[in-house]
Amino acid sequence: MGRIKVVGHCDWRMAMPDSSLLSLLKGKRVPVATSCGLGSCGSDMVLVIAGTENLTPIGTTEARTLAEMEAPENARLACMARLTDGDIELTVPEESLAT
Ligand code: FES
Repeated sequence: MGRIKVVGHCDWRMAMPDSSLLSLLKGKRVPVATSCGLGSCGSDMVLVIAGTENLTPIGTTEARTLAEMEAPENARLACMARLTDGDIELTVPEESLAT
């Protein structure tokens, strides 16, 4: 069992391994923006503060989208990154929040 903390939204909460960050964020009622669900629109970019080793590796599509966005090195797309186990701490930039 893992845990997730979303700065400004929720303190440490239990998180099921093999869950996408997007499903975990929605489960914690963090209003993250989504569109494609395929790693190509970049609307759900999050920034990992700690625990990046507990996420699945970045795939080709996610890497290409993040590069096109000129995203910071600690950026992941919530629909593509899955928690493998352990803890993850992240923040959701304002531009990634649903309005
Ligand atoms: S919803 Fe489009 S990249 Fe995640």
